[in-house]
Amino acid sequence: MNYAHLKVSSKDFIAIVTINRPDKLNALNIEVIDQLSKCLTQLNHDESVRCIILTGEGQKAFVAGADISEFAGFSVKNGRELSASGHKKLFSMIEEMNTPVIAAINGFALGGGLELAMSCHIRIASENARMGLPEVSLGVIPGYGGTQRLTKLVGKGRAFEMITTAQMIDANTALNHGLVNHMVPLDELLQKAHNIASKIVKNSPTAIGYAIQAVNAGDEGGLEGYEHEIHLFGEAFGSEDFKEGTTAFLEKRKPEFKGK
Ligand code: COA
Repeated sequence: MNYAHLKVSSKDFIAIVTINRPDKLNALNIEVIDQLSKCLTQLNHDESVRCIILTGEGQKAFVAGADISEFAGFSVKNGRELSASGHKKLFSMIEEMNTPVIAAINGFALGGGLELAMSCHIRIASENARMGLPEVSLGVIPGYGGTQRLTKLVGKGRAFEMITTAQMIDANTALNHGLVNHMVPLDELLQKAHNIASKIVKNSPTAIGYAIQAVNAGDEGGLEGYEHEIHLFGEAFGSEDFKEGTTAFLEKRKPEFKGK
């Protein structure tokens, strides 16, 4: 498997997929999303792979979000399509995979980066990791499942605080909130992920696939929440605040929001 923005290796039933765009802090552009979708789909059907570890290249970022430069000029329709296709192609797809995916969060996991980690079945963070959903600071909302998955993982009150303040939390806070299962020093992160993966691969892949489906079935009542998120994510693209927020990021200045 050859992908321009991914490094993929596999051994002893465990595959490691590394998002490799470190100059942009591994931000998710359309190409990265497409490549991840294809790569993970292929690994999900590969009988020689029973667990996947997903991480980011470098020591600074897992993924610093969706690529802001790519969607800054989008309309309401483009915004809605971006969100809907991301849900289908990658974020919900990962959650529904029969092969468990462990997110090894090696630094910033922001916006789409945290949403990607939350789509995975298990999360481990390095001590330097920082997590957040900063979308409202750009005049938009989380659009890849963040409003739904964060709420389920940490509860409504903490999700509201993280989403409305747009602030990051450190790995220790994420551990206390139950957003990640473990926190380890950065140089032990892949080993920790590997230790968990090596326990998973000893078990029945068929039973694990069924167990994932059963756990997810408990969320099915929440499908309407995802539809709402897609609709409102699109609506945000019609606001002046969105234009100001994304332009300010790209011009490296603070935004001045008018609430319009
Ligand atoms: N989209 C596009 N480019 C991004 C990006 C994103 N989400 N996050 C980082 N980058 C780019 C920066 O523009 C910069 O590119 P440049 O060197 O060509 O100017 C490069 O990655 C390095 O980032 P920089 O901001 O210089 O690093 P930093 O250490 O000063 O700050 C962050 C790190 C994570 C705090 C900062 O990059 C950031 O706030 N990123 C955006 C996070 C975000 O809002 N994500 C949600 C998007 S919906």
